[in-house]
Amino acid sequence: MPCGGAMGHHDSSCPTPIFHNLRRLPRPTAPRILHEMRSLEGKVFASHEVFHFDEKVLKQRNMEVIVGLSDRAGCSTVVAYAVVVKWNHRLLLHKICVSPAARGHGIGSLLVQKVIEDSKCWSCRAIELWVDEANHIARGLYSKYGFVVQDTVNDYYSPGRNGLKMVQMLQS
Ligand SMILES: CC(C)(COP(=O)(O)OP(=O)(O)OC[C@H]1O[C@@H](n2cnc3c(N)ncnc32)[C@H](O)[C@@H]1OP(=O)(O)O)[C@@H](O)C(=O)NCCC(=O)NCCS
Repeated sequence: MPCGGAMGHHDSSCPTPIFHNLRRLPRPTAPRILHEMRSLEGKVFASHEVFHFDEKVLKQRNMEVIVGLSDRAGCSTVVAYAVVVKWNHRLLLHKICVSPAARGHGIGSLLVQKVIEDSKCWSCRAIELWVDEANHIARGLYSKYGFVVQDTVNDYYSPGRNGLKMVQMLQS
């Protein structure tokens, strides 16, 4: 989709990414993409929340990594990703991330829509996630796509940082 397309958020400084399942990308590209994801992950999340993107994620059959690649200067760059875990016909949306420079242009929305779309192919009946109560941006994004708060657990992340469990039931 060209910039300035259906989402209405996009501009020429932020090309719309194409989303791929990491496992389906050509195998030789995986190390570079994993390296970029590790680098982004280290910049965005606190050290105790960092997910270790290494080649083992390609072998974990219950885990899927969706990566959004944008073409910049002829090179595909990671601008967003999501990590999901499948269990018992449910999908745990473990984490989503959009590169700081690309935020506010609808990419997080496209990523959540992609996760919802893919969850149907994986025969999931519900998508669950945990989000920091204070993360109003992520909460706004999840609410926009139909996630509702099912539970609150005090001190879930650390003392004083409560966690919300948000759930979306999918049509069977
Ligand atoms: C949460 C995150 C993925 C959103 O990505 P994004 O590309 O900026 O999201 P979008 O531009 O699609 O915005 C989607 C919605 O998020 C909310 N949102 C985005 N930016 C916002 C802001 N600055 N203030 C308030 N709400 C905001 C809004 O509800 C917005 O919907 P709207 O545009 O219809 O109002 C991104 O901020 C991020 O990676 N944050 C750090 C990692 C993180 O917190 N991940 C979630 C927990 S693991």
